[in-house]
Amino acid sequence: MATANVNIPPEVRAVAADGTQLRYALMELSNQYPDAIALGRGDPDVATPAHIIEAAKAAIRDNKISPTSVYGMPILREAVAAKLRAENGLDANAENVIITTGGQEGLYLIMQALLDPGDEVIVPDPRYTSYDEAIASAGGKIVLVPTDHDDAFNLRPEAVEAAITPRTKIILIITPSNPTGGIVTEERLRAIAEIAIRHNLIVISDEIYEKFLYDGWKHFSIGSLPGMAERTITLNGFSKTYAMTGFRVGYAAAPVNVIEALARIKSVTTGAAAAVSQWAALAAVTGTQEPIREFHKLYDDRRRLMMTGLREMGLSFSDPRGAFFLWTNSSSTGIHATELSYLLLKEGRVLLFPGTGFGDNWGGYLRISVLQKSELLSEALERMKPILERYRITQE
Ligand SMILES: Cc1ncc(COP(=O)(O)O)c(C=O)c1O
Repeated sequence: MATANVNIPPEVRAVAADGTQLRYALMELSNQYPDAIALGRGDPDVATPAHIIEAAKAAIRDNKISPTSVYGMPILREAVAAKLRAENGLDANAENVIITTGGQEGLYLIMQALLDPGDEVIVPDPRYTSYDEAIASAGGKIVLVPTDHDDAFNLRPEAVEAAITPRTKIILIITPSNPTGGIVTEERLRAIAEIAIRHNLIVISDEIYEKFLYDGWKHFSIGSLPGMAERTITLNGFSKTYAMTGFRVGYAAAPVNVIEALARIKSVTTGAAAAVSQWAALAAVTGTQEPIREFHKLYDDRRRLMMTGLREMGLSFSDPRGAFFLWTNSSSTGIHATELSYLLLKEGRVLLFPGTGFGDNWGGYLRISVLQKSELLSEALERMKPILERYRITQE
């Protein structure tokens, strides 16, 4: 990939090799620009539904704020288990569920609990690089399995199987995917389950974007397949589904011995998730699910708007089947994605993340999230257009 003549500030350059740090450095930089339009982060911009806020207020008013069991409130664990049985087809009871301080803590606890030094984790690439750090901090080793644009970034069972070695312990699945918006289709999940059983591997299934699939695609939970309950850890949370990122509540569902192992680490690190947040989460999971339908419609409309605008600029993207992201191929600009992101921020005041924020191999991609009002998305497209044109001309 050609390099544009861009002076990336040293603080961004210094962290460019580390996906997570790079994303944070760009967000930090964008704070300098009050008019920046942020299409970077994956946190919903919509308001948390009123009945959830009310539940949090009531918890404070009624003094229901004492620390709960480190596993989470029994009533919430049961409500989550009921949801997993009804919606995901999992064979889960309350004792199979732990409430975490966001999915982020969940994924960290899982790696700490399951990995011994040298154990390998099969991870689809590109990827949410928080997993890199969680795996590394437990002494594990990432084994990347590339996913492809032409395959809508679906995960290929043959590629998973080819990556297995005697040290493999876990297959990680994130569906829908951050950053690609691709999904792992049911047929492929069935084949991957069969591989996991044959090689006696654990599957971690991150389903945090499960409610946001488009164009008729349907979410499927690998943990519901025969022989998978005993080897699957399903990770999810309230941040994306209910626009509750700041409440920091997530959960993991797994066999009881795994849940106990997670709780042992949690009890000596963060302790129980905040009680107020757990009451809010209870209202979310047991209350009306209508807000999810509204959010879905909103995100779908926005992604269509964005797709049209990007196509008009001559940018292509993989078939985005889920989540909040357009994983956009920017290689036609001739500019490395890290530089292009910086340019778009500095000259266009549009913050989006370079593909390199999700793995070293992705210098020809941008992750554009649609978590802004439509007017701002249109404005962002208008700001991007002249910059791309200017730099395309420079290329000639
Ligand atoms: C794939 C994936 N898993 C887990 C998380 C963690 O989310 P939270 O900690 O807000 O629940 C995120 C957040 O962006 C994510 O993209």
